[in-house]
Amino acid sequence: MLAPHRCNTLFVYLLSIKSTGQRMNHTVLVTGGAGFVGSHTVVELLLAGHQVVVVDNCVNSAAPPANIAPLPSVNGGHDKDDTVPSVNGGHDKDDTVPFVNGGHDKGDTVPSVNGEHDKGSPALLTRRGVKHLPPSLARVHTITGKEVTAFYTVSLLDRPALSQIFVKHKVDVVIHFAALKAVGESVEMPLTYYVNNVTGTLTLLEVMSEAGVKKIVYSSSATVYGTPQYLPTDERHPTGQGVTNPYGHTKHFCEQIMKDLATADKEWQVVLLRYFNPVGAHESGMIGEDPRGPPNNLLPYIAQVAVGKREILSVYGDDYDTADGTGVRDYIHVMDLAGGHVAALDKMFSEDFKGSVAYNLGTGRGVSVLEMVDAFTRASNRKIPYKIVGRREGDVATMVACCALAELQLGWRATRDLNQMCADAWRWQSQNPDGYV
Ligand code: UD1
Repeated sequence: MLAPHRCNTLFVYLLSIKSTGQRMNHTVLVTGGAGFVGSHTVVELLLAGHQVVVVDNCVNSAAPPANIAPLPSVNGGHDKDDTVPSVNGGHDKDDTVPFVNGGHDKGDTVPSVNGEHDKGSPALLTRRGVKHLPPSLARVHTITGKEVTAFYTVSLLDRPALSQIFVKHKVDVVIHFAALKAVGESVEMPLTYYVNNVTGTLTLLEVMSEAGVKKIVYSSSATVYGTPQYLPTDERHPTGQGVTNPYGHTKHFCEQIMKDLATADKEWQVVLLRYFNPVGAHESGMIGEDPRGPPNNLLPYIAQVAVGKREILSVYGDDYDTADGTGVRDYIHVMDLAGGHVAALDKMFSEDFKGSVAYNLGTGRGVSVLEMVDAFTRASNRKIPYKIVGRREGDVATMVACCALAELQLGWRATRDLNQMCADAWRWQSQNPDGYV
C-alpha cells in the first residue's frame, strides 16, 4: 500500500494566496454541455447568474428531438430569413421547448456558413439548426427556471460553424467538456480519440484565439497522474507518466497544449480541473448520467443492477493492496464538481489569476468497490448481486485526491457525502430507468 503523503503541506507555501469573494456574471460557452458533468455544471452556472451558450454534437448524449426525427433535406433546416441558418439555436413558433433562446436575431449580420460545406455532408447534418433543446438541458431549465442563451448542435471539428458561434455571441470564457471518454473504446479506436479530443481542442483554441477569447476551463481527469506515486495525489504529482490508454493521453496532451499556450501568450488564462470519479445526480432526480450501452464506470453499473436492467455487477479484482482487496477511488458528487467550475470562473476573473493552474476536484476520501456496493444497497434498498472477477487492465489499486489547493485558492470543497451520492444517483436511476429516452 502506498504511504500517505502529507497533503496539508500545500497549505504551508500557499498561505499567501487569497481566494476571491466576488461574483461577476459572464457569458460562458460550454462545450459538451448536454452531457453528464456538463449539464449539471450548466445548472450551477445559470443559478450563479451567468449566461450560458452550449455547443454539443450529442454523440454521447441524448440529442434534441429535432435531431432524432427524420431530417429534411440538408438545405431545408433553416428559416429563409435566418442569417445564421445552420447553427441557429432555433425557436420556431410551434416550438414545444419555448425557453430555447438560441436566437436568430432578425438584424443579425453574421453571414451564412452554409456555403462552406459540401451539400449533404455528414458534417452539415451535425451542425444543422435544432428545433429543441436536448432533454438534459430542457430539464435544466425546469430545475433552474432559467434559460440557456443558445444551444448549437455543432462538432468542435467544424471550424466554420464554431467560428460563427463566437461571432454571434460575445463569449467571455469557455468551459470545455466535449470529449470522448470510454477508456476501452479509446484503446480500440485511438485515431478517433486523438482526432476528436485533441484536434477538437486545438480547433477550439484556434477559434477562441481568433475571436480574442483567451480564458478556458478544461475538463481534465485524475487519469493524467497515471499510476500514483504517492497518496493522496496533489497537483505537483508528475503527469503523463504511466498513462495506460489513449483517452488518458488525450487529456494529458490537451493539458500540455493549454499550458504551452499560456506560457507563450500571457493573455491566455487556463484552469485545468482534474476530476476524480464523478458520480451522483442533481438532487431533483431530473438529470443524471445516461451512458450509451453497458456502463464502463462503477456507479452507473451498480445503479442499473439495482433497477433491474443488469443482472450482476462484476467486481474487477479483490486482490489489490487495499483494506478489502477491491479498488479504491475518490468519488465526488457531480453537483460538488459543478460548483467547482463556478469557483474556477470566479478565480479566473480575479485580479491575481495568471497563466495556467491545475486543481484536483475530489473529496480526499477513498471508497472501495465493496463499500460502494454497500452504500448503494442502503440508499436503494435493493439487492446488488455481484461476483468477483479478474482485474481490469489499466486499473490502479487506489486513487485519492489531495484537494487542499482547490480549497485554498478557489474557496471550494466538496460537501456531499457517499450516502448523498448514492441517494441522488438512485433517485435519477429509479425515476429514469432508461435515461432520457
Ligand atoms: C475510469 C477511467 C478513467 C476515467 C474515469 C471517468 C479506467 C482504467 N479509468 O476511472 O480514465 O477518467 O473512469 O470516470 O477505466 N469497477 C468494477 N466493476 C465495474 C466497473 C468498475 O469493479 O463494472 C471498479 C474498477 O475496477 C475501479 C472502480 O470500480 O476499481 C472504479 O472504476 P470506474 O468507475 O471505471 O472508474 P476509474 O477506473 O477510476
